[in-house]
Amino acid sequence: MEPFTTTTAINCILILLLIHSATAVTVAPPPTATSPTSSPPSSSSSSSSSSSPTTPLDPKQITALQSLYIPTTTHNPCTQPSFHNATVCDTATPFRHVINLRLTNCSSDLTLSTGTLSSLSTLTSLSFINCHVPIVHFPSSLSTNLRSFTSINSLNRLTGVFLSRFRNLTQLQIIGDTIRTSGIHIITSNIKSLNSLTLSNANISGLLPRHWNSDDDPKLMKQIDLSQNRLNGTIPTSLTLLENLELLNLSSNQLSGEIPVSFGDLASLTNVSLASNALSGSIPGSLSSMSRLVHLDLSSNSLNGSIPRSISEMKGLKYLNLEKNNFHGVMPFNASFIKRLTVFKISGNDNLCYNHSSISKKVKLGIAPCDKHGLPIVTAPVADGPSSAGDLSSDDYSDDGGDDGKKKNGDHGPNKVVVGVAITLAVAIVLIIFLVMLSKCCGGRCCCC
Ligand SMILES: *[C@@H]1O[C@H](CO)[C@@H](O)[C@H](O)[C@H]1NC(C)=O
Ligand SMILES: *[C@@H]1O[C@H](CO)[C@@H](O)[C@H](O)[C@H]1NC(C)=O
Ligand SMILES: *[C@@H]1O[C@H](CO)[C@@H](O)[C@H](O)[C@H]1NC(C)=O
Ligand SMILES: *[C@@H]1O[C@H](CO)[C@@H](O)[C@H](O)[C@H]1NC(C)=O
Ligand SMILES: *[C@@H]1O[C@H](CO)[C@@H](O)[C@H](O)[C@H]1NC(C)=O
Ligand SMILES: *[C@@H]1O[C@H](CO)[C@@H](O)[C@H](O)[C@H]1NC(C)=O
Ligand SMILES: *[C@@H]1O[C@H](CO)[C@@H](O)[C@H](O)[C@H]1NC(C)=O
Ligand SMILES: *[C@@H]1O[C@H](CO)[C@@H](O)[C@H](O)[C@H]1NC(C)=O
Ligand SMILES: *[C@@H]1O[C@H](CO)[C@@H](O)[C@H](O)[C@H]1NC(C)=O
Repeated sequence: MEPFTTTTAINCILILLLIHSATAVTVAPPPTATSPTSSPPSSSSSSSSSSSPTTPLDPKQITALQSLYIPTTTHNPCTQPSFHNATVCDTATPFRHVINLRLTNCSSDLTLSTGTLSSLSTLTSLSFINCHVPIVHFPSSLSTNLRSFTSINSLNRLTGVFLSRFRNLTQLQIIGDTIRTSGIHIITSNIKSLNSLTLSNANISGLLPRHWNSDDDPKLMKQIDLSQNRLNGTIPTSLTLLENLELLNLSSNQLSGEIPVSFGDLASLTNVSLASNALSGSIPGSLSSMSRLVHLDLSSNSLNGSIPRSISEMKGLKYLNLEKNNFHGVMPFNASFIKRLTVFKISGNDNLCYNHSSISKKVKLGIAPCDKHGLPIVTAPVADGPSSAGDLSSDDYSDDGGDDGKKKNGDHGPNKVVVGVAITLAVAIVLIIFLVMLSKCCGGRCCCC
């Protein structure tokens, strides 16, 4: 009797489940029914393909593309998306011309020639991405036509003078390729209409430019990324005149001195990193007037003083990294502020502490709680010397935090286990009762349905 009724009960449940999944399948819309008949999506730039779909590409340029191993017969270089998105054309007649060229993952026997580049002087955008080609002379027709130039892990033997000949650029991006130059000013003083400058991991030394787009409008510049170079000296106050700057990345250089007091004048900034330099002094209070700031990274410097409370009033902030500095005093951030951020890092500031009446000790910040005078409580049985061996003592703090956390968990641990077991038992009992009742019901008629 017993095993028989339970198996019928299980059968009942299985049947119910089957009925359920069957309805689910019939309700679900047929996913790919229309795909065989649908026509290929029309190209994004409708003007370039629909206005003159049959206008051929300039034969000179076809030859040039072939010499760069870009297919021209199996794929039409002017149809979007083109092969590897390497080419974009204009709509000129009688011949179309290539205006964007992107060379990616080039074969090792690819060579550029000045002749090829001359044929391609209609280009306004040229990118080399993982394309190690020996650099050649760029004809001036091409140099002055280019609006955007990119080299990522590609061209070697770049120089500041070479790049400064692209004098009509609005965007220049060099990442991972060494640039030999006496300073970035060689580039910025010759390219007047630049609005986005990325020279990252390019082994550039020297000072930051004192002037940007000198003769023209300081409102032009939107993005500056000079990270991972060997730039030294201070951050010039003139940088803070770039009122439309949205991104500033000066991280991983050897910059020293203080952050300019007028830094907050950069009212359009959304993302800024000054991380991993040798900056000193305190965070200027003007920073809090940067109302659009989303991402602030000042980590791994020698900044000191107390952290301005006004930072906790910056509503848009999502990323805040102040770790590995020399800040002191009571950290001005409460739990609700920290919760709103996606990244918050504050450890490695040995003289900084948090008010444990506004932040639970369970939140692991990597800094010590404050005593009633606003000084870090050193709980570890470790010799004093507040600023000596910074790394060691910060480890002590985080170990303390960890121990606290573990103790708390230890206190709650048994309770949690008991609760867990109780819930499991209750669920099991309810299930058994359910099964028994089902089996009785099914014993009477054919299944509960
Ligand atoms: C280039 O190579 C990288 C990795 O080798 C790959 O992820 C990428 O898709 C390639 N790009 C193109 C356009 O072939
Ligand atoms: C070409 O670009 C489009 C849109 O930018 C992208 O969706 C597509 O994956 C790219 N194709 C290749 C082969 O890189
Ligand atoms: C490039 O800029 C110069 C001024 O530096 C200007 O005379 C010239 O017309 C521009 N060339 C193009 C193709 O826009
Ligand atoms: C970087 O530049 C220095 C001299 O300025 C040179 O000694 C060093 O070899 C360069 N490093 C690379 C990777 O090019
Ligand atoms: C700055 O550049 C570094 C490396 O070049 C990068 O990891 C970091 O995300 C950048 N930060 C910002 C704010 O753009
Ligand atoms: C700016 O920072 C935010 C938050 O960290 C990030 O999501 C976003 O990608 C960054 N924007 C740029 C252009 O780096
Ligand atoms: C911060 O450091 C600067 C020099 O780097 C020093 O002159 C100043 O007294 C320090 N301020 C505090 C509050 O420690
Ligand atoms: C946390 O700090 C913010 C900004 O300083 C403040 O507006 C808010 O009231 C504080 N919240 C609590 C719970 O104290
Ligand atoms: C910590 O916060 C409480 C209440 O928010 C306040 O009364 C106390 O003065 C604060 N302690 C320190 C050291 O700032």
